[in-house]
Amino acid sequence: MPPASPNIPNHVAIIMDGNGRWAKQRGLPRIEGHRRGVETVRSTIDAARDLGIHYLTLYAFSAENWQRPAEEVSALMGLLEFFLRREARTLVKNHVRLQTIGRIEELPAGPLKELKSAMDATRHFTEWNLVLALNYGSRTELADAASAYAAAVAAGREKAGEASWSALSRYLYTAGIPDPDLLIRTSGETRLSNFLLMQCAYAEMIFSPVLWPDFTKAELAAAVAEYQHRERRFGLTSEQVQPRPTEHCPAINP
Ligand code: FPP
Repeated sequence: MPPASPNIPNHVAIIMDGNGRWAKQRGLPRIEGHRRGVETVRSTIDAARDLGIHYLTLYAFSAENWQRPAEEVSALMGLLEFFLRREARTLVKNHVRLQTIGRIEELPAGPLKELKSAMDATRHFTEWNLVLALNYGSRTELADAASAYAAAVAAGREKAGEASWSALSRYLYTAGIPDPDLLIRTSGETRLSNFLLMQCAYAEMIFSPVLWPDFTKAELAAAVAEYQHRERRFGLTSEQVQPRPTEHCPAINP
């Protein structure tokens, strides 16, 4: 195995975009693009683990995607169910914990059952994490967190008038999941589309022109390499975040 590279992002979040265009370019129905997209999901989970990325979050179905044509929504739900039934054993074998963010209780019974079963089968794993964003939107997440926080205040578990980010973030779907270090969107679009808006406050962003079905391990590795050249300042100055030369280099004897 090659030596681990320094500064691998702990958490990579991906907006998987371009399935429809991939299919259209080939004169195929949109669902063929999604079917190929599922194969890319499988290869990307392996690639992320190979590269040493401990959390991978994939935007699989947004809260707004219900408004797509009914047959496309139904096909996406079918693909999700198929993927989970086929992949659950591999996730267990590879020690990957499956979690979700989003209002999953609103998903159809078939994929929901597979989801709960795969999450249950992998809940003890800690090192590798796959997070599927399903029926997810940052704005519904914030609304749900506000409701839960208000209920906690009413129950005396939180104090009114003392909200902080660290307290509020415990009520987000992502509670317990570290913030993304790197956000990738494929297909050349440069939007966040209601995805992890607060959690990506300090994420590095990379917009790849590659359509999701064509996204390979090499593309993921290239995004990680670009991330490694970025300076993350978290509101500080460049001088503050740069390690001092003495911390880097051994002293040279005259
Ligand atoms: C965006 O491409 C993609 C989606 C809305 C769905 C993503 C779903 C998958 C990759 C497959 C199912 C996922 C799992 C985890 C089994 P688009 O259709 O908007 O593409 P376009 O912009 O080219 O039309």
